[in-house]
Amino acid sequence: MAATDIAGPLGVARQALLAYVDPWIGRSLGELGALRDLRLDGSRLLASITLPVPVGDYRTELEDALSAVLAAAGLQFALQLQLTADIAAHAVQKTLKPLEQIRNVIAVASGKGGVGKSTVAVNLALTWAAAGARVGLLDADIYGPSQPLMLGLTGQRPTSVDGKRIQPLLAYGVKAMSIGMLIDPDQPMVWRGPMVTQALTQLLSDTDWGELDFLVVDMPPGTGDIQLTLAQRVPVAGAVIVTTPQDIALADARKGLKMFDKVAVPVLGIVENMSLHVCSKCGHEEAIFGEGGGERLAGECGTLFLGKLPLDARIRAEADGGRPTAVAAPDSARGRAYRDLARRTAAALALRGRDRSSLFPKIVVEET
Ligand SMILES: Nc1ncnc2c1ncn2[C@@H]1O[C@H](COP(=O)(O)OP(=O)(O)OP(=O)(O)O)[C@@H](O)[C@H]1O
Ligand SMILES: [Mg+2]
Repeated sequence: MAATDIAGPLGVARQALLAYVDPWIGRSLGELGALRDLRLDGSRLLASITLPVPVGDYRTELEDALSAVLAAAGLQFALQLQLTADIAAHAVQKTLKPLEQIRNVIAVASGKGGVGKSTVAVNLALTWAAAGARVGLLDADIYGPSQPLMLGLTGQRPTSVDGKRIQPLLAYGVKAMSIGMLIDPDQPMVWRGPMVTQALTQLLSDTDWGELDFLVVDMPPGTGDIQLTLAQRVPVAGAVIVTTPQDIALADARKGLKMFDKVAVPVLGIVENMSLHVCSKCGHEEAIFGEGGGERLAGECGTLFLGKLPLDARIRAEADGGRPTAVAAPDSARGRAYRDLARRTAAALALRGRDRSSLFPKIVVEET
């Protein structure tokens, strides 16, 4: 950096930008090493910023915030932002190695059934994809797959080019795979433990995912065989626990948290679904199932509270109609609730340790 940079307006701008704390990640651009380049072009200030989260939906917001920062520092520049994402592979269970092409496996789980895991999983995946990330969605609910319906893929079958690997189906930019795409939905399924665990690992490894930043795994409810297989065999970068505010769901969520703790799968945080009921006729809001439980549980368990989602009939209608809220109404209040959840989840992951194996070159000792 030239000495004049430090003293001059460019230096002042640099210091101001480096000190800016991103409200989602909770770290300054300086701490994040996010400011990659800064230069003046007449009265325009060109800033190149790289964040460790999907940024597609974030440019205008950040540009406005940083323009305000510059104005507060007494600078009159017109800021032009070049914003890119660099999503790292994060650390997984110590006993496992991260997958080569999939940077981060994110499991969406709950202790209790029917609390909204699948709805959260699909909207999380779609929001990240809309923000420019490379995203896959694996429906691990072998007993009751719901992703084909939610993604509008009912009846479609994945194909295989080489007879070995299966091509995932594509919906709204997300690569999706579900046992529901491979079986006849009208046939009752009889699965025994080993078949269940094999189905999960095969869906993961036999699918041609390509390069992904995130693979969201929609888990079945509870703490059974599939959860154990996931914990033991799938390198998970983080789990998101979904709960509703009722005591019974919270108690089950606590069990789910403990299970992941025991098997050393890192938990990113808790989402409270069906928090406030929003009347689709008059917009009146009511806390039917109680209030604040998810946040309290997160505090108690020392994990993050990733946000609350409204109980809104339109969320169900959109998911059942094969066009989940994140694509049907991303700018509505409910769409923004999913967007905020996706941002907080990506930020929680970004703050976790990186996969060290990708940071250092592998040392090979050759025998002579
Ligand atoms: N915030 C919400 N507002 C309104 N309806 C919702 C909301 N979240 C989920 N639903 C609806 O509730 C039902 C259950 O949701 P979902 O299938 O996502 O739960 P789940 O936890 O995956 O269930 P399971 O344990 O059976 O896999 C679905 O009909 C879904 O559309
Ligand atoms: Mg489900």
